Amino acid sequence: MTAEIIDGRRIAATVREEVRLGAGRLLRETGTVPGLAVVMVGNAPASDVYVRTKEKAARSVGIETRTLRLGADATEARIIEMVEGLNEDDSVHGVLVQLPLPPHVNSLAVSSAVNPLKDVDGLHPDNVGLLLIGSPRFVPCTPAGIQRMLVESEAPTDGKHVVICGRSMIVGRPLAALLMQKRTEANATVTVAHTGTTDLPDLTRQADILVAAIDKPRGIRADMVKPGAVVIDVGIHRLDDPSSEKGYRLVGDVDAEAVRHRAGMISPVPGGVGPMTVAMLLVNTLKAATHAADTSKPTRHTAWAGCAPSRA
Ligand code: GUN
Repeated sequence: MTAEIIDGRRIAATVREEVRLGAGRLLRETGTVPGLAVVMVGNAPASDVYVRTKEKAARSVGIETRTLRLGADATEARIIEMVEGLNEDDSVHGVLVQLPLPPHVNSLAVSSAVNPLKDVDGLHPDNVGLLLIGSPRFVPCTPAGIQRMLVESEAPTDGKHVVICGRSMIVGRPLAALLMQKRTEANATVTVAHTGTTDLPDLTRQADILVAAIDKPRGIRADMVKPGAVVIDVGIHRLDDPSSEKGYRLVGDVDAEAVRHRAGMISPVPGGVGPMTVAMLLVNTLKAATHAADTSKPTRHTAWAGCAPSRA
């Protein structure tokens, strides 16, 4: 068996086109240009690449972006002050603080400082809670992207066993909350495995859909995968490879070379989850701008009816 490749680049292009059309409509109807502000602390090369990719994608669909940079030694108070300035700025509809933050900064304090109505990362406790109770306002971008990939690939989740490896706030936990919801694009039985799981291969072999977010290059081996399973690879790592032109190669959390002979479908690295994460950030930014332009909007702490991610 050779797995079907889930083409994240193609699906992300479809999502971007939807956002481009939506942003055009918003501009015509309300005069609003969606605005996204990205705060980057320090200059980790990987984060820098992500931030540039987000800026480029946003501009391509008619979202204005600005990136505000702080040194790696910026205090938590300074970062929060910057976030609060963006909360007050009416031309900014979405605020994203690039992660990871330096170790001296409390990420939860920073996430909690973002106006929940501008929280396009979906990490503010209000938005985490709304997702958990099944009334999402902003779904974190990677989980939203994974759900859309599954829908577009016609890989049903309803009644399936989804095993998510990794319990991060940005992927594992929100994805579990999303895929266990009682809706046809979800309704899965979800297991979250983590570093305290005693027999990971035994668990992963039970997965109809296996999501690898373990931050370990090629950590999911072929013998850990049920034949025919759908495998979603969230990881991205740069490994030295003198035989390649660039001197390195990008690999995921899955040993894709081996797993593709066993899985039914697999998302590649690069070109899988990564482009989807960026595309869903654009969806969330348009959603935030649309909400801000709506004069009949609901109050601060309620969910937004009709604002679930498309098809979710
Ligand atoms: N770093 C890697 N992925 C993400 C993401 O989705 N959001 C933020 N804020 N930082 C990230």
